Amino acid sequence: MFWWGRNNLIINKNNMANCIYCSKEIGEGMRICQDCAKPQSDEFIPGEGLIEFDDWGGYDEKKELRPDVSSSLVESYNLFQEKLSPKCDIVYYPSCDLDSSPSIAFEKSRIIYVDIAENPIKILKDHGYEAHVADAKKFKPDEPVDILILLNPGETGVAPVKFLADQGYVLCNDYHDTATKLVQRGDLEFVAIIREDENKKKIFDSENPDEYWKEVSSDEELKTKPLYDFILKTLKKVHGEERLGEIIKRGEIVSEYTKILDSEEDILDESGFPIVLFDLPRKKGNMDNIFVFRKIKKVD
Ligand SMILES: C[S@@+](CC[C@H](N)C(=O)[O-])C[C@H]1O[C@@H](n2cnc3c(N)ncnc32)[C@H](O)[C@@H]1O
Repeated sequence: MFWWGRNNLIINKNNMANCIYCSKEIGEGMRICQDCAKPQSDEFIPGEGLIEFDDWGGYDEKKELRPDVSSSLVESYNLFQEKLSPKCDIVYYPSCDLDSSPSIAFEKSRIIYVDIAENPIKILKDHGYEAHVADAKKFKPDEPVDILILLNPGETGVAPVKFLADQGYVLCNDYHDTATKLVQRGDLEFVAIIREDENKKKIFDSENPDEYWKEVSSDEELKTKPLYDFILKTLKKVHGEERLGEIIKRGEIVSEYTKILDSEEDILDESGFPIVLFDLPRKKGNMDNIFVFRKIKKVD
């Protein structure tokens, strides 16, 4: 049994995930609720293969699987193409596992899938995809690639960036600090974040996308973030209801919560266990978004 670590988990304002099929709130780290997970017949669950989920959303590896497609990823890749009209003859996806979403979004491209695990690669090959069992730290595509996809690449890290063609693009998320590592390099330009706006509509945000690396600095900014309710509850626990009212009135939510984060003292929940505190949210985006980088052309 293992866990899905895919990037189409939808984390809602309570920091829980929503089922990708019915949107019901489920535990963090899960992607599908028990009702939708239960096969009603012998048919495949769309995109999931014939799978029996246990109570925690894990599944048995021995069951028949087939390539997975994330509608969220396909939407992001389509938006990327619509906005930038990039050259995308060759798309390289190391550490792909069973995710075949690029084949839907980049339908005319040659897509090279690589994973060190044999099972997903066999399944991708059986479905007609070009897929290689290889260590992505050593695998060398036969040509420079136009698009490199790095989603939760694990120990592969950012090593495959060296195979990117001049002005080629990296599309990545930040669960494994991939975007954070790439933004520190000198050979890539950070172009945009593909993220959801307040109405849950996907947008191509190229205006100050590096605000992802900055924390909110005012109560006004914090109010729009999913963590707002959690932060209010924490302040109430520490200061009581009356003082919380004053903090809100004076616009001191961010500064008072920062003091709590900086203090060494534990805050205990009803059962006496320390509450895990979250850092202040970022000004924009989250680690699940698609970060778009372009390789800067070398000047000789
Ligand atoms: C967390 S999964 C991510 C799968 C997929 N990219 C996604 O986001 O849903 C990490 C994948 O990296 C693969 N992997 C780990 N180390 C690797 C390596 N050195 N070379 C190639 N694949 C590797 C694992 O087998 C696994 O399928």
